[in-house]
Amino acid sequence: MREDRDELKRQRAYIGKMREILLDREKREGRKLTYFIETMGCQMNAKDSEKLAGILEEIGYEKTDQETEADFVLYNTCTVRENANTRVYGRLGQLHSVKLRSNPEMVIAISGCMMQEPDEIAKIREKYGFINIVFGTHNIFRLAELLYRYETEKRMIVDVWEEGDRVVEDLPARRKYFFKSGVNIMYGCNNFCSYCIVPYVRGRERSREPGEILREIECLSREGVKEVMLLGQNVNSYGKTLEEPVSFAELLRETEKIEGIERIRFMTSHPKDLSDELIDVMAGSEKICDHFHLPLQSGSDDVLRRMNRHYTRDRYLAITEKLRKAVPGISLTTDIIVGFPGETEKDFEDTLSLVEEVRFDSAFTFIYSKRTGTPAASMPDQVPEEVIRKRFDRLLALVQKTGREMSGRDAGKTLPVLVEEINHQDPSLVTGRLTNNTTVHFPGGEELIGTIVPVKLLQSRGFYYLGERA
Ligand code: 5AD
Ligand code: SF4
Repeated sequence: MREDRDELKRQRAYIGKMREILLDREKREGRKLTYFIETMGCQMNAKDSEKLAGILEEIGYEKTDQETEADFVLYNTCTVRENANTRVYGRLGQLHSVKLRSNPEMVIAISGCMMQEPDEIAKIREKYGFINIVFGTHNIFRLAELLYRYETEKRMIVDVWEEGDRVVEDLPARRKYFFKSGVNIMYGCNNFCSYCIVPYVRGRERSREPGEILREIECLSREGVKEVMLLGQNVNSYGKTLEEPVSFAELLRETEKIEGIERIRFMTSHPKDLSDELIDVMAGSEKICDHFHLPLQSGSDDVLRRMNRHYTRDRYLAITEKLRKAVPGISLTTDIIVGFPGETEKDFEDTLSLVEEVRFDSAFTFIYSKRTGTPAASMPDQVPEEVIRKRFDRLLALVQKTGREMSGRDAGKTLPVLVEEINHQDPSLVTGRLTNNTTVHFPGGEELIGTIVPVKLLQSRGFYYLGERA
């Protein structure tokens, strides 16, 4: 998919119009107006929020951490699990009372995956009439236009698209870190894992043209970015549907050539599409980080089949063995769902035994959440909650035990750390990451942020190291 330049121009014009409206208000009120964005969910949403923040700053809003005092509040939602939705409605209720009590001019907006569900939109129209702007995942580049429409029409503006048929990438973004950035390489997902709502809310898989991606990364590099995270729901199938197909491994090879980029990460991979070519590229690369996030979901062949995952536990195990052989010291992380419909004690034990065999550095463990509209929601034998809870606790204990054992394996070595920030608890320390994504804290100051320095890993503290500059 190519970029839509006309739309870009239109949106730039709306940014200009909104800037005038804002300037007017600033003059009247004698202060800058502020925005607050709450980002829920995954890396894709985090990236979207950076783009949304970029538009808001271009209009003239300043960022604030004080949600209750902000002039513009946006919740960028996730809907992968049901309880995320429940939390959003809880927070909206609270925000409404703040607005009524102390901030009547506050503009409230909501976006993200939850908005791609028609039932949620109906609920918002019916019960949450105080929300001013509602949009989805396919048109975030329209924020300035939607704001302008709200300012001129003063009624709830709802703009949700079913499909993402355009890419508008060249709007300003406000990056959280100046030295690292996510880069969208594809949108949507075609896998239809039977529990997952993503293909319904993010639409069909669409890859960006490699030339456009590489240009963006070159531009980021010129701005001082050292680490890029290539983002997609299933990066391993990148490029297959392009007019001139390209593989993900080829895209990585080209990214590697960009001067100034020192670390390359990617997220998320699907085991079914993981190629030997990719493993080879990783093995021969100086820049691709020694970390692979490879969602397992379950260690039972029967559950994997009903999840529509298209791999077996043996294949998963074979891939991880290959990765470990090709990239010594690589860290492996994963996602696991507990309590998928029909999961028996035996199935669950298969998951435990696989976790033991692979020895993940860390794992995100999730309680299965029934998402209406997905095939799994109507499968028989939904597992009772108290059974799931017990299994979840057993899995978590195992994951933490192996994680602790694995993460200490580099103690005593001196390794490069990309420094990210001043330590939150102890300001005499800085916090950074190894290429395998493990966190390291060591004495240092602000001037180190964004640089890569060698650090001696003195002590492993479970999931992180304490070190000193070598
Ligand atoms: N219930 C629980 N976890 C889920 N995930 C996706 N859908 C569901 C669901 N319905 C998890 C998967 C995925 C991660 C991002 O979220 O493990 O890899
Ligand atoms: Fe959901 Fe599966 Fe697509 Fe991941 S690969 S987004 S789990 S459908």
